[in-house]
Amino acid sequence: MEMISLVHTSVEFGNACAEARRDGPLALVPTMGYLHEGHAALIRAAAQRATSVAVSIFVNPTQFGPSEDLSRYPRDLDRDLKICATSGASFVFAPRDPVELYPPGFQTWVEPGALAQPLCGARRPGHFRGVCTVVAKLFALSRADLAVFGEKDYQQLLVVRRMARDLDLGTEVVGHPIVRERDGLALSSRNAYLSPEERKRAVALWRALGEVRAPFARGERDVAALEELAARTLTEAGLRVDYAELRDPYELARPAVAEPSTRLFLAAFLGKTRLIDNGAIGEPHRIE
Ligand code: PAJ
Repeated sequence: MEMISLVHTSVEFGNACAEARRDGPLALVPTMGYLHEGHAALIRAAAQRATSVAVSIFVNPTQFGPSEDLSRYPRDLDRDLKICATSGASFVFAPRDPVELYPPGFQTWVEPGALAQPLCGARRPGHFRGVCTVVAKLFALSRADLAVFGEKDYQQLLVVRRMARDLDLGTEVVGHPIVRERDGLALSSRNAYLSPEERKRAVALWRALGEVRAPFARGERDVAALEELAARTLTEAGLRVDYAELRDPYELARPAVAEPSTRLFLAAFLGKTRLIDNGAIGEPHRIE
């Protein structure tokens, strides 16, 4: 198999993107590596929409809190490169060290607004500031025409899309549906942390979404009652609930009554591992 081209420095990345843009539209897929079928689906979707696809692989330290999993975040660059190649990526940017993107003297940050306040923003202070800053840098270096983000991190998708518009970054932010395992668990690099026993219990996130969709379909519209059903499903499976909240899909405001487009947002701990999931409560409960 032909090796996919790999660049390690920002300058090389900028040059590779400039060259690619001469052939037609360039799509960017930002990742933190340890790629799985969810990332592969984003790369394939990007390849359908653009002539060239750049994938970035960078475990961004500025989006991790002091007690989070930065030091143990899983890595396997060789495997990642194979997945990029078979999914249709044109080249990969994988900085060897954070200093490549955060050189000495770095002091400028992108501060997102209200969309970054609830849900993960409330539980992970500074997280979206770190995400926005690194994504703004990747957009600036690549000048990509579009970038594909997964709905798995739905709040991140909205925050990054708003940033790109507010700051006129020139990159269109495209969303992609969540890719799930056969039992419904959303694919995540962090699933690698789960013991076999935890892995079985992790399906409670998907089940909790079903436990809200069913009564909604029967006419239940009470926001607090539906949230309570989701939280109970997680607790009964032995997960520690971080949040289980209904929000509108555009501004992430708390709705007065539940509507079909209202999304359930879930975050829960299994041991030390924090998993998230979300979905529209008016959609049928099946795996896409
Ligand atoms: P990471 O967690 O590696 O995710 C990279 C992209 O893959 C994100 O857009 C995420 O939503 C998407 N993704 C992950 N699992 C998915 C799944 N099961 N189905 C669909 N899409 C999925 O998100 C990040 O990295 C970082 O915050 C990043 C944007 C790269 C900035 O550092």
